[in-house]
Amino acid sequence: MQKSISGFSKLSKRGKLRWMVENFFKDPELVMNELKSYWLRDEEQQKILDGFSENTISNYHLPFSVSPNWLINGTTYCVPMVIEESSVVAAASSAAKYWQSRGGFKAEVLGIEKLGQIHFTFEGREEDLRNKLPDLETSLRKDAAELTANMEKRGGGVQRIELKKLVGGPQHCYTLVVFFHTADSMGANFINSVLEVMAESLRTYAEDHQELQKGNLTVLMAILSNLTPDCLVRVSVEAPISQLACPGNQISPDEFAQRFYLAVAIAKADPYRATTHNKGIFNGVDAVVIATGNDFRAVEACGHAYAARDGQYRSLSNCSIDGGVFRFWMDLPLAVGTVGGLTTLHPMARRSLELLDNPSATSLMQIAGSVGLAQNFAALRSLVTIGIQQGHMRMHLSNILSRLEATEKEIKEALVHFADRAVSHTAVQEFLQLVRSRTKIEGDLRV
Ligand code: MEV
Repeated sequence: MQKSISGFSKLSKRGKLRWMVENFFKDPELVMNELKSYWLRDEEQQKILDGFSENTISNYHLPFSVSPNWLINGTTYCVPMVIEESSVVAAASSAAKYWQSRGGFKAEVLGIEKLGQIHFTFEGREEDLRNKLPDLETSLRKDAAELTANMEKRGGGVQRIELKKLVGGPQHCYTLVVFFHTADSMGANFINSVLEVMAESLRTYAEDHQELQKGNLTVLMAILSNLTPDCLVRVSVEAPISQLACPGNQISPDEFAQRFYLAVAIAKADPYRATTHNKGIFNGVDAVVIATGNDFRAVEACGHAYAARDGQYRSLSNCSIDGGVFRFWMDLPLAVGTVGGLTTLHPMARRSLELLDNPSATSLMQIAGSVGLAQNFAALRSLVTIGIQQGHMRMHLSNILSRLEATEKEIKEALVHFADRAVSHTAVQEFLQLVRSRTKIEGDLRV
């Protein structure tokens, strides 16, 4: 056993795989063959995937699903979703259908601004720094001009630069906040490159200006911020309460609307509920973000920080009942792109975007936001009526049945049997054993 190794990254892909299976698995050949079976047959395509990360030894598959019938601002989409959790795509699709016949989703982009920060310390007078800002900005822009020229041609670029003193943290800390538009790209690489050039430019500027030199201006780091509250989409649905049919029609539309409203109000006030509530929103958002090759960690980090913007973590979605009209909406910061990065390189991401008719970044914000809101609607609709386990368990049951290689006939019997019984792996296994031994006895008798 050799649990650690030096020079691992220099090994070939096969070499890495061999080292790993031989040192960490009981049956190296079996695992080696299994992991190799997930390699793509097309070597060129495989090379593209391998290029996304480091030390790759195989591919990790996730289901690629589609959800039809999304009516968003009058356009109908079939939305790609990549997610491993059962019921999410079914719930999204059912909510899409529900709202398709009630006017669909309205979506509006409220802002497209992204930002980055150059952090530095300065022990001199803040006033001296502020006085220099206009001149400094000209200098920073000039030094970054070569990098920003192309983005400017695409309608983006540096918007403005602000100086902020850090409050409530370590002493003497300042940030130059640089605001960007990045056209249809997510823009992380562009922003970081510009920031690094500007950080260097700030260093040089400080050396050349006595007041700043005296205050010992020292640049610490430069990086984009994933908190983009002004890269924001508003998505909403609304309908007269009388049109709000609910599952099984067990309660009146009025009672349904009231219960739904209360569920949102609870998630506004209680962070424990809000976390689960918002997790449901990201079930939908992330699935679209991943399918289109965008960075779901950035989107999630931003969404959760935004949910806590007034100091308490709250529901991202809102509900109102006014004059007999039910309205459900959400403002969500979504920094996504439709060109550049993985969106163009990953073959499946490219297909996802093609399926969405090659949207602009702002259209993708509207689509992903709508799916998030729909997901939240579907979850709350179930929670305040029949609960989520009924639908969830049906999916859970079908997953277990497929794992146990149940036949069509066995599946049908299982659905009837488990209609009012708790589903667990053991219970399904025992049920199948019973059915299979009964079938065998019947077969033997026939012979
Ligand atoms: C499960 O992935 C998501 C839900 O828990 C969301 C919610 O409770 O609102 C169903």
